[in-house]
Amino acid sequence: MGQKKLIKFAAIKAYENVLEYPVNCKGSWQAFFEKLQAQGSPTSDKIADVNSKESIPPHPPASKPATPLTLELACGRGEYAVGMARMFPDQNFIGLDIKGNRIWKGASIANKEGIHNVAFVRTQIDQITNYFDTNEVAEIWITFPDPQLRLSKAKKRLTHPKFLRMYQQFLQPGGLVHLKTDSPNLYLFTKTVIELFELTVITATDNLYKTAFVQSNQWNEKLSIKTYYEGLNIAGSNRIHYIQFKIDKALPIEKDEQLKEMIAQFEVTETHDAKRERGVKTNEN
Ligand SMILES: C[S@@+](CC[C@H](N)C(=O)[O-])C[C@H]1O[C@@H](n2cnc3c(N)ncnc32)[C@H](O)[C@@H]1O
Repeated sequence: MGQKKLIKFAAIKAYENVLEYPVNCKGSWQAFFEKLQAQGSPTSDKIADVNSKESIPPHPPASKPATPLTLELACGRGEYAVGMARMFPDQNFIGLDIKGNRIWKGASIANKEGIHNVAFVRTQIDQITNYFDTNEVAEIWITFPDPQLRLSKAKKRLTHPKFLRMYQQFLQPGGLVHLKTDSPNLYLFTKTVIELFELTVITATDNLYKTAFVQSNQWNEKLSIKTYYEGLNIAGSNRIHYIQFKIDKALPIEKDEQLKEMIAQFEVTETHDAKRERGVKTNEN
């Protein structure tokens, strides 16, 4: 591992605004942020106290926290978590990602600017239900997640019903989910999931920055935040796709098979290898 990465990994261990695989934190984020804000700028002796897992009270009753809590999933450097924390000082924000060296960037900016309503959790999003209690989260942003283009990897897409069922466990009723992506495939997939499970779409556009949308009443200042991956245009679509929806219906697991069949019909980005995995005959067979 590179020297720079090692330095960043060591740094986040000492940061009070980064928790790595925390335990006993369900239902305790309001208390965590109150403590973070009371401490002000980090110093090494204060840091140890906040990062101590025991310092977060275990399992208080499940209730809506007094301060709204928003998550940024697959946050990378956390541009949304930090950007929204700047815009809304009376709300709390948490960025989640598995890569400590990326989280380091957002956490360092927050520390430098003295922003104490944002924190980062280093973990697998697959474990997310271990971290948040019923009703604890007001809103979720999923920013440029890996599109997982292979059909065989569809279950890893962060808008797959497998993940939506997890989010539903802690999202407040009516809580919004936002997806920002440059992948037409992931956008279409997400729309298909929403349609199949009859969820409520609030906004959907395959060209977020087109003048008509920016000038419409659906635009808001959060949408102007740009992330690192947003600038890379990896999907080559030259368009930012955006969906805002609610997970306001039951998500019966039996429908997952139907989803699999539906997406197999329109996903054209599938590789020959992925097709072979599904037993579909290709020219290479
Ligand atoms: C394409 S990057 C986007 C990062 C950032 N949101 C941006 O737009 O610049 C996807 C991020 O998702 C994270 N990621 C992918 N799968 C994950 C998982 N299961 N759990 C946690 N993080 C994950 C990766 O570490 C990576 O930082």
